[in-house]
Amino acid sequence: MKKIAFLFCLIILSLNQLFAQESGALSATSGNLLLQFNLTDSGAPTYIITYKQKPMVLPSALGFICSDFSLNDHFEVISSDKKSVDQTWQPVWGQEKRIRDKYQQLTIQLRQTEVPNRLLNIVFRVFDEGIGFRYEFPLQPALKFFVVTKELTEFNLTGDHKTFWIPGDYDTNEYPYTVSKLSEIDAWKLASTSKDIAVRTAPDQFAVQTPLMMKTVDGIYLNIHEAALVNYPAMQLHVDRSAYKLSASLIPDALGNKAYLRSPDHTPWRTIIISDKATDVLASRMILNLNEPSKIKDTSWIKPMKFMGVWWEMITGKSSWSYSNNIDSLDVNGSLIPHGHHAANTANVKRYIDFASQQGIKGLLVEGWNVGWEEWFGNWKENVFDFVTPYPDFDINELTRYAKVKNVQLIMHHETSGSATNYEQKMDTAYRMMNKYGYTAVKSGYVGKIIPRGEFHDGQWMINHYIRAAQKTADYHIMIDMHESVRPTGLQRTYPNWLACEAARGNEYNAFSPEGNPPEHETILPFTRLMGGPMDYTPGLFKIKNFNSPDNQVHTTLVKQLALYVVFYSPLQMVADLPENYEGRMDAFQFLKEVPVEWDESKFLEAEPGEYITIARKEKATDNWYLGSITGTDSHKVDIALDFLDKNKKYEATVYADADNADWKTNPEAYKITRLTVNSKSVLKLKLANGGGAAVSIKPIIK
Ligand code: NOJ
Ligand code: CA
Repeated sequence: MKKIAFLFCLIILSLNQLFAQESGALSATSGNLLLQFNLTDSGAPTYIITYKQKPMVLPSALGFICSDFSLNDHFEVISSDKKSVDQTWQPVWGQEKRIRDKYQQLTIQLRQTEVPNRLLNIVFRVFDEGIGFRYEFPLQPALKFFVVTKELTEFNLTGDHKTFWIPGDYDTNEYPYTVSKLSEIDAWKLASTSKDIAVRTAPDQFAVQTPLMMKTVDGIYLNIHEAALVNYPAMQLHVDRSAYKLSASLIPDALGNKAYLRSPDHTPWRTIIISDKATDVLASRMILNLNEPSKIKDTSWIKPMKFMGVWWEMITGKSSWSYSNNIDSLDVNGSLIPHGHHAANTANVKRYIDFASQQGIKGLLVEGWNVGWEEWFGNWKENVFDFVTPYPDFDINELTRYAKVKNVQLIMHHETSGSATNYEQKMDTAYRMMNKYGYTAVKSGYVGKIIPRGEFHDGQWMINHYIRAAQKTADYHIMIDMHESVRPTGLQRTYPNWLACEAARGNEYNAFSPEGNPPEHETILPFTRLMGGPMDYTPGLFKIKNFNSPDNQVHTTLVKQLALYVVFYSPLQMVADLPENYEGRMDAFQFLKEVPVEWDESKFLEAEPGEYITIARKEKATDNWYLGSITGTDSHKVDIALDFLDKNKKYEATVYADADNADWKTNPEAYKITRLTVNSKSVLKLKLANGGGAAVSIKPIIK
């Protein structure tokens, strides 16, 4: 009741736009958003957000509890400063050539009224589509080294919003999403059904991870995440289910502390996107804008690419990473005994190189090339991998030569089995070896519990580890793709060699259990995990059923797998299936062959989280367009006006569509390909099957 009465007052006040002046609040605005900052009677900082004059975030707390003092009240404002910025910048790679960074910034300097009068700044940036804010700790004697035990940031929401969530796990994001009201969030109910996750630490039953996507009953979309996560733990959100209030829940370290800081320093940005159009959420570049520009001066060696992998045959259990069955497979001299199913053998790798080379796929990842896999699985094992010793049947010199002749780049694989300390000790040697053999990219992984023991995948120590890995690979001119890392927060702007992360439930889960990734999964990811940065989702599976157990299947049609290359932006896209599953369907493969990974422009044509997404993108430095449309469980019909095409050109559109009788469950591999001539006045009629998709290439007809 109290909340409703307050809401009513707030509406009246904000309608009059008088609140700021009357209460002495400080404010900033842009587009439809208004941010107001205030101190309570006890000097506690709070903020409010309104969108089109409607309250979206009610008075919400800001501040910290530290190990021997608090930064939460007895504050006074000593100064405030406002400025407007409108600039554009060019990413090294991205969804568009230029990015506009337009915001109004409000910086508030606070001082505690009690000795030792600690200082805290809060900086708000109000963009047209969202707001970011962070805390800054100015250099001061009373805040030299300090330990954050709790961050008090709240998002006090206005109703029981529809929410797309995964549990607040400290170690993994590899969950399917649950769609429920805020009041119905119960992580433990869900976690008990997700048995296919290797490491799990979800202590708070009512905590969820970010990016968190929500929708109000009157159709406003909210998206909460963070930007520029550096030297700080990841933020999850504890949900107060009756008050609809979310509060920051930071990942602890082994001692239960959250962050060890030293002034001057600052937190990551807390971000919230608000719009009545779902497509605005996808089009937002606020998270990138809140990150620092590239620290890498010469970026000419950073090259987005598609790649195949000696990989899916291990994921599906057809062959193995290890050379022997297990660590006990040693002969009297202590040598490994081969078992005959080791995928990364020279002849098999050559088979993949041949296919990639014929089809113009630039890269080839080889997993299981190095000694250690006999004992990799499990937790807290020391020194499993040295990252430099190939198995006896992987002839690295010959394969390096062969790949070079065939114009294919081999991609290195570093599974750390969670031992970040072991990896840190061996990184230089491993990267030097990559330089020697000309490997330009590495996929790393953190399966299992973290060493140092007691640390979590998303705690401050590991956050700094991922950044050290990004920085160090950059020093060696190596691009990196991290699996089982923290979810991204836009740091790819600062480290553009950090091409992608997994950090969510990838396509591989379709091989792990019948549950797999439900058909709506891919329509939720762009609104959640992908908000922070590109994902190595490993799309492109053509054999949808019967690739291992008869109970498992990919929960999409084949055509939806094609559409994912446009819908999921990533500068690194795997062409994930086995060569033999592409052969015989080379007409559909043609789309995978052509679809680029670098774009000049992106158009977000329609979207509804959990239901459908349609995106068109213009290839970098050409006049070719590619369109991807995906749907969740239900079929979907859409008419797309091609008015984004050049008015003076005629194009040929090649439409890869689900066959009329296609269905993700009963007939997933049926497709049809049609060609038509189109121009900017044409309307493309697409019909997507249940769990289906459509993929279209649109190229100018050159006379
Ligand atoms: C899990 C990763 O997601 C997968 O891609 C990789 O093959 C295995 N770990 C082994 O490193
Ligand atoms: Ca994984």
